[in-house]
Amino acid sequence: MDYRKLGRTGLKVSPLCMGTMQFGWSLNETDSQRVLSATFDVGINFFDTADIYSRWVDGNPGGISETYIGNWMKQAKIPRDQIVLATKVRGTMGKGPNDQGLSRVHIVNAVDASLRRLQTDYIDLYQAHWTDDDTPIEETLRAFDDLVRQGKVRYMGASNYAAWELMQALWTSDKYNLVRYDSLQPHYNLIHRDEFERELHAVCLTYGLAVIPYSPLAGGFLTGKYRRNETLPDSKRAEGRKRDMTEKNLALIDEMEVMALRYKATISQIALAWLLADPVITSPIIGATSIEQLKENLGALKVRLAEDEIAFLSRMTAWKNEDEEE
Ligand SMILES: NC(=O)c1ccc[n+]([C@@H]2O[C@H](COP(=O)([O-])OP(=O)(O)OC[C@H]3O[C@@H](n4cnc5c(N)ncnc54)[C@H](OP(=O)(O)O)[C@@H]3O)[C@@H](O)[C@H]2O)c1
Repeated sequence: MDYRKLGRTGLKVSPLCMGTMQFGWSLNETDSQRVLSATFDVGINFFDTADIYSRWVDGNPGGISETYIGNWMKQAKIPRDQIVLATKVRGTMGKGPNDQGLSRVHIVNAVDASLRRLQTDYIDLYQAHWTDDDTPIEETLRAFDDLVRQGKVRYMGASNYAAWELMQALWTSDKYNLVRYDSLQPHYNLIHRDEFERELHAVCLTYGLAVIPYSPLAGGFLTGKYRRNETLPDSKRAEGRKRDMTEKNLALIDEMEVMALRYKATISQIALAWLLADPVITSPIIGATSIEQLKENLGALKVRLAEDEIAFLSRMTAWKNEDEEE
């Protein structure tokens, strides 16, 4: 496995990260643990979760994904120092006004709750899930700085920040000598490009932030299993994918299928290889719901797309006006 640095830090992570949002939603605990063990066995050392996963499921209080991971580490006797555990804070975890957000009070409570569920005494990468307009960024960063000093957290990251918000956070850390965000977790894939590429790409490149994109396969659409005139696949996420099934995106899938044949690869592998071809990308977060999907996605690490193939896919999914293109 070609481990790489998490941005400017000395922390080494695998070039794919295993996402666990599906746990307790698409997968029960036994199947989740099987996927986790298979992931660890192939050398992936990077795991992403969040306290709120998966609170959107009826009857699910949140924290399930963290609980499954904690149980797995204990039951499978995973050496804690051999995995890089990333989780997030910000979402709503209770009924009270302080059970959400990035205030000092919620962060201090939330980190202890995550540590309890994960059955560990530190989190490698603690991420602000999204911004909190009610809390000054200085308060948030001071609370995070305290967690790092206390040893509860090793590195800090952000997710779903706009470029100006990320710059504001970096500037505030610099001004007050506080821990800074060393990674960004943006929504980024072949059919969702502008949000990251418009300005965040340049911020991450310039300031050495690791980029760990989520939904690299557009929730399954970029695997090729959503097709014209075919019934939707049996997936909890199928209804949500209907919005991706535009003529432009389906034509992309057709072209990716042809390209995949040339590389003796699969459509998913082409989608991941396109992301991995950009040196700013550290580790796409994959969301496999089975060991077969994990193995297929892992195969992307062997696919090296030629420059003209990368350019072709980028042209097919271009978001800039033509006169803005270089
Ligand atoms: N920061 C945030 O706001 C945020 C938001 C979303 C996600 N995330 C993180 O990013 C992770 C990944 O996100 P995502 O689940 O949207 O990623 P994704 O890779 O775009 O989609 C994963 C889904 O695609 C399907 N799939 C994956 N590999 C496949 C394959 N080889 N063949 C066929 N189907 C395949 C599976 O769903 P089915 O089997 O059900 O079809 C799987 O759940 C999450 O687990 C979470 O850790 C973060």
